Amino acid sequence: MIKLDANKIKEDFPFFQKNQNWVYLDSACTSLKPKQVITAELDYYENVSACASRSSHSLGRKATEAQDSARARVASFINSNQKEVIFTRNTTEGLNLAINSLDFSRLGKKKIVTTVLEHHSVLLPLFNLRNKNLIDLKVLECDSEGLISLDQWNDAINSNTALIVTNSSNNTLGTSQPTGEIAKIAHDSGAFICIDGAQGVAHQKTDFKKDDYDFLCFSGHKMLGPTGIGCLVAKSDLQKSMKPLVFGGGTVKTVSLEKAEFLENYEKFEAGIQNYAGAIGFGVACDYLKKIGMENINGHEKKLAAVAIRALEEAGALIYGSKEQKQSALISFNLKNAKPHDVALMLDKFNIAVRSGFFCAQPAMEAIGAKEGAVRLSAYLYNTEEDLTKFKEILLKVNELYS
Ligand SMILES: Cc1ncc(COP(=O)(O)O)c(C=O)c1O
Repeated sequence: MIKLDANKIKEDFPFFQKNQNWVYLDSACTSLKPKQVITAELDYYENVSACASRSSHSLGRKATEAQDSARARVASFINSNQKEVIFTRNTTEGLNLAINSLDFSRLGKKKIVTTVLEHHSVLLPLFNLRNKNLIDLKVLECDSEGLISLDQWNDAINSNTALIVTNSSNNTLGTSQPTGEIAKIAHDSGAFICIDGAQGVAHQKTDFKKDDYDFLCFSGHKMLGPTGIGCLVAKSDLQKSMKPLVFGGGTVKTVSLEKAEFLENYEKFEAGIQNYAGAIGFGVACDYLKKIGMENINGHEKKLAAVAIRALEEAGALIYGSKEQKQSALISFNLKNAKPHDVALMLDKFNIAVRSGFFCAQPAMEAIGAKEGAVRLSAYLYNTEEDLTKFKEILLKVNELYS
């Protein structure tokens, strides 16, 4: 592992060149974008601007090549095959596609296991199927530290289980799960596993093949890429039996008024003109992170998390969940007597960006004891210890005001 130079990395981010006095601590919501990603998107619009996989003119061919190359870069980042990567708008769309693509009546079982620590983009599609009586849902609870044990997974998964849907790292506590081991438990019982990688893929090394996931969803915008692009990675043999979520142009071999014959793999699911510029930027973001090394980024984040925890302790903040198990620099906290939104707005007055509320994970927040919501600080590879010193100075002042 090498020491990561966050000050040097900052130089790649036009946001910091134009907004030098900002401390950005809201990367779990969305990350900032390096110039490499912005330039790649711009280059598509300025020099290509055509549709991929349709038009035979040279601009169309260039667009196809650029999209194929982006797919290969994303696949390589998480060690999957290129054909397994289905571009989506974001993690939310990927999760909706995966969850709705399985035919539970054909599988002959309809139990789905998930956890209370999931984002609404996992829970709501599952609730939707439960409301239609298409699935039985088992939701695992967490302990007071926000942890779920392997024993709980072992006890919940059995031969009636069709699917497990869970996060590799959550957005309320920054803690992770041994998803490779959970995948093994799932497969031993003949169940599929779908991983919400929105927080995990951006912050830890992820290996689709080694961990033997069936589905993995993540968003470009949380890992230095553009908004409006993400992916569902789905095993090739599974894709054959999956139902598309959206139907339309670019997904079929032939159509008559009686029937349509669909293409195979990702093409079946990417209906209509796609976000080519976004996909290109996403691929470049993957390359950028890969070059720095996910182990180095993770090591840097763990150091930042330790510094942030010390700062919060000095301010007497209530920190939620396990401090030891953090896998990224993401911390939810509250100051005594102060409402989360008030704290966030006070910090904003001093150009410090944090998030407040339930972070689209209300059951998770309630389970960890933050019934009124919390403030969330989330740092990334471009944050420095000086950023956290500024955060601490202002937080101490805010705390004084409320005590
Ligand atoms: C754990 C987790 N899952 C899913 C999502 C949804 O991601 P998106 O809004 O990019 O679809 C988020 C976003 O914050 C998240 O943190």
